[in-house]
Amino acid sequence: MEIVDKVKWKEIERKGFYDIEVEPTIDLFYEIEKLKKEKNAIILAHYYQDADIQDIADFVGDSLGLAQQAAKTEADIILFAGVHFMAETAKILSPKKKVILPDLNAGCSLSDSAPAPLFAEFKKKYPDHKVVTYVNCSAALKTMSDVIVTSKNAIQIVNSFPPDQPLIFAPDKNLGAYINKITGRNMVLWNGACMVHEIFNHKKISDLLASHPDAELIAHPECEASVLSLAKYIGSTYGLLEYTKKSSANKFIVATEPGILHQMQKSSPQKIFIPAPTNHTCACNNCPHMKLNTLEKVYICLKYEVPELILDDETIQKALIPIQKMLEISAQHSL
Ligand code: 13P
Ligand code: SF4
Repeated sequence: MEIVDKVKWKEIERKGFYDIEVEPTIDLFYEIEKLKKEKNAIILAHYYQDADIQDIADFVGDSLGLAQQAAKTEADIILFAGVHFMAETAKILSPKKKVILPDLNAGCSLSDSAPAPLFAEFKKKYPDHKVVTYVNCSAALKTMSDVIVTSKNAIQIVNSFPPDQPLIFAPDKNLGAYINKITGRNMVLWNGACMVHEIFNHKKISDLLASHPDAELIAHPECEASVLSLAKYIGSTYGLLEYTKKSSANKFIVATEPGILHQMQKSSPQKIFIPAPTNHTCACNNCPHMKLNTLEKVYICLKYEVPELILDDETIQKALIPIQKMLEISAQHSL
C-alpha cells in the first residue's frame, strides 16, 4: 500500500508535493504506464533526464523535437520531464491541454541569465534590430522576440533574415558567437551562458584527445568557442546522437550534459562514450535543474496531476507568435 494514497489532497497542498513518500516496493514503471493509459497522458522527456525517465517516456528529444511533439499530441495531459522553459513552450503550443511537470523548481541557469525587465531595457537600445531568442528563456522573454530558435534550427532561422537586417541574439553568448561565425553575421549578443556547458575545460579535453587519438570530440554549441574549436561535430543533443550513429568512429568525447549518453549507448552499444572533462573534479556537467526530476516525482505528478504549468492568456498569445514562426521555418527546412 502506498503511503501517498493515505494523504488527503489538502494535506498534499499544505505539505508540498515533494514531501510525499512513495512506497519503495511499488513498481513505478508499471504504475506510470497504467496512469498514462487511464488519463490519456503523454510523457515528453529531454535527453538530459535520468535514464529511467527516458525509458518511460513516449518521446525523448531535443528542444525542437519536444516542441513539435507538444504541438501535435492528442493526449489530454502532457507530463513534461525537462525544465520549466520547455514545459512553458509546451503549454504555449497546446494551451488547452494540461501541462504538468515533475518539479516546478527545475529552472535553467541560461534562462535565468536574461531577466525580462533587463532585457526590455537592453532591447530599447537597438530599435532597428529584430530579436532572435534561443528557446532556453522565459515565456516573458519570448513575448519580446521576433523569432525563437533552438540549437537545431538556429543557423537556418538566422539565415532567413535579409543579410542587412540587424539582429539581437539572446540569451546564450556562446551559441550566438557560434551562429555569428557560421553565418558571417554580427548579431548583438546578450551576455548569458549555461552553467553546464561553460565548465568544459579546453586543456583537459586536448589532453584527453591526445591520449585517445581514435576518439572524436562532439560538442553542443552552448560550449565556449575554445572547446568548439576542438570539435569534429557541433550540434543539438539530437544532432550529437545522430552523429554518433552515423560516424565511423568508435569512440567519442561528449561535451554536453551526460544524460544524452544513455541514448548514445543504447543506439551504439559497441561504441565508447566519454563525458568531456570539466574545470572541476565534481560531476558538475550534470544539469542540476534537469536532475531535479526523478521517477518518483514523475509518478506523483501523473497521479495527482500536480504541479501544473499555468500561464496567462496574454503571455500565451504573444509568445506563440515567435514560436510558431520557428516551427514554420523548421518545417520548410525539414527539421
Ligand atoms: P537541445 O535543444 O540541443 O536539446 O538543448 C537543450 C539544452 O538545454 C541544452 O543545454
Ligand atoms: Fe539550462 Fe544548461 Fe541545464 Fe540546458 S543544461 S537546461 S541550458 S542549465
